[in-house]
Amino acid sequence: MNTYFNPVRTFQGYGILSHLEQLVEQYADPQKSILLLVWHADVLHLEELEQLCIREEKRLLIHCFSASNPELEQLYEMYRITRDKKIGMVIAVGGGSVLDVGKSLCCLYGKGEELSNPEDLRRLIASKDYGSPACRWIGIPTTAGTGSEVTCWATIWDPAKGVKHSIDTQSNYACAAIADPQLIETLPLPLAVSSALDAAAHAAESYWAKAANTVSRALALEAIRIIMGQIDHLLEKPSEREAHDAMSRGSMLAGLAFSNTRTTACHSISYPLTMQYHIPHGVAVSLLLGPVLLLNRPALRDMDALLNAFGLTCPQELGKRITGILAAAGHPVKLRDWGVSEEMLPSLAAHSMTKGRADNNPVQLTEKVVHNILKKLM
Ligand SMILES: [Fe+2]
Repeated sequence: MNTYFNPVRTFQGYGILSHLEQLVEQYADPQKSILLLVWHADVLHLEELEQLCIREEKRLLIHCFSASNPELEQLYEMYRITRDKKIGMVIAVGGGSVLDVGKSLCCLYGKGEELSNPEDLRRLIASKDYGSPACRWIGIPTTAGTGSEVTCWATIWDPAKGVKHSIDTQSNYACAAIADPQLIETLPLPLAVSSALDAAAHAAESYWAKAANTVSRALALEAIRIIMGQIDHLLEKPSEREAHDAMSRGSMLAGLAFSNTRTTACHSISYPLTMQYHIPHGVAVSLLLGPVLLLNRPALRDMDALLNAFGLTCPQELGKRITGILAAAGHPVKLRDWGVSEEMLPSLAAHSMTKGRADNNPVQLTEKVVHNILKKLM
């Protein structure tokens, strides 16, 4: 269906974090506490957050969440230690992990006896019956890649069960997303690059997703054009503000695109690579972009527009372009260099069929198709 919806108020650009104060005034219930969830306490030295801490001292609760790929038990623990604090707003400042935990908490508060242990949380996620979130949240990304600030779902890993959960409800969009490039300037280059390529993958997969629409396609192409147009500058001069601003803009646009379409084969195939071999998410998904583009070629509506946005002339060039960028940022680009062996490919292929991602790919994914793709990346 050709329709688009996203209710998040977006703020993007250098200095835009100064809007936080007015947003807290507008959206936070004055009778309740505010949970400020951060990746690391260092971020509290930012002038705007320092002011928030002073102004809201009495009702502000600060917690650090410093784990990549948040796990169900970790989310439950954060819920357990904050559930009795009458939280009326969550402000999540960090990468995708912090934003995903922050937004998930909004769906968990107020559940009382229903959520007494991690197993209850598993049951709630399986039922998808979250009801209305108990509070609202503001997303402030410190990486430019996940787009989590403008999506209504959160990825929660469950290694004990060998699965990835999605806490997912249309009623849990942020009230505001603030993407200020000053927060991403100090990212280590390998992380900045893998995050940017994750965003490029969100946009490309959104472009060819079954659920794509006119608006999401336009957002996706612009996101790719901005990211790929500046990524070489990011590699050459990592201190340049223009490149960071571009990654911040591109990531947010990609997030807005895939907030309506979700991702497809690249993300689906990447999950077991990240879970079993700890390949960073942005590296795993972007390595898959080239081969998945070739797979999807027959189903693509306007290949030229997509290639143009990537700055390429034929689809065969994409794989090389991506591995060139990853290698320049210091990432291994062969699966075997990440510890993957040929014998493991059938098992990886079998675990690649993530519901809602694999079946959102315009060309049918089978274990044989995935096996061939993985083999090419060895
Ligand atoms: Fe992603």
